Amino acid sequence: MVNVRKCAMIGCGLVGASAAFSLVESGLFSELVLLDANRDKAEGEAMDLSHGMPFARPMEIYAGSYDDIQDCGLIIITAGANQKPDETRLDLVQKNVGILKNIIPEIKKRQCEGILLIVSNPVDILTYAALKLSGFPPNRVIGSGTVLDTARLKYLLGQHLNVDSRSVHAFIIGEHGDSELAVWSSANVSGVALSQFCEMCGHYRHMETMQKLYEGVRDSAYEIIRKKGATYYGIAMAVRRIAECILRDEHSILPVSSLIEGHYGISGVCMGVPTIVGSTGVERVLDIPLSEEEQQKLTASAQAIQEVLKTIEF
Ligand code: 2OP
Repeated sequence: MVNVRKCAMIGCGLVGASAAFSLVESGLFSELVLLDANRDKAEGEAMDLSHGMPFARPMEIYAGSYDDIQDCGLIIITAGANQKPDETRLDLVQKNVGILKNIIPEIKKRQCEGILLIVSNPVDILTYAALKLSGFPPNRVIGSGTVLDTARLKYLLGQHLNVDSRSVHAFIIGEHGDSELAVWSSANVSGVALSQFCEMCGHYRHMETMQKLYEGVRDSAYEIIRKKGATYYGIAMAVRRIAECILRDEHSILPVSSLIEGHYGISGVCMGVPTIVGSTGVERVLDIPLSEEEQQKLTASAQAIQEVLKTIEF
């Protein structure tokens, strides 16, 4: 039996602890189990978070073992090494696939029926690895994909146009990494085509601005890591949003990473594209219209992921 109100966080580093905090603040779950290779770390985080209970909605938070996660509705994996300054996400692949090879069999062994949410990097590779190692149906293995990158794009566009970022509709798709792309062809602000809205705001240098905003998104993590050593608050809020879609069966569209089979002419790879997310996890991967150039970039992004997948043994 699955308890949809019970969530597990595997990995209590900066990302895991921040995501746990974000979930506690959300009030979505009634039970949160924390696991970390360093048991003290998980216990310390559980104590610290629990002390905020009088300010939050009731929730049981504790450091547990794999036996405690058997009935979790959502199992979030943030365990793994982080990028160091000037490292790419793909540089982490061998180390973090190795870590996943220890974690996933423990989950599989307990016949968990919950949804796996992979957050560790390189997220698209690890989502694919989790899918293969777990044998779970593809709808139950989700990666955080380009949900954060898309939020970064909306934020930057909102700043540029002096409009609420929630009124900006635009996606970053593909690899959560250097080969990702912005879907400019359908970007809009509440139905007004982006270039038209820009002109309404007195901005006319579209190509130059789009390139600058795209690079700003793509290179965000590098800049944050250079300045403060790691990124964790943005991704923590993205995790909360994905969890919310699942728990509340929202059928919202988010660019999570999941198995792509035949969409955009691409197969056998996990990457972020607009996807309907609900209580069963991935409900439907959407084929949104792309310009010819965007299609080429998405194909190239999938190939970049596939090249890395070839180096991994499952
Ligand atoms: C981020 O994009 C490092 O993947 C992490 O913030």
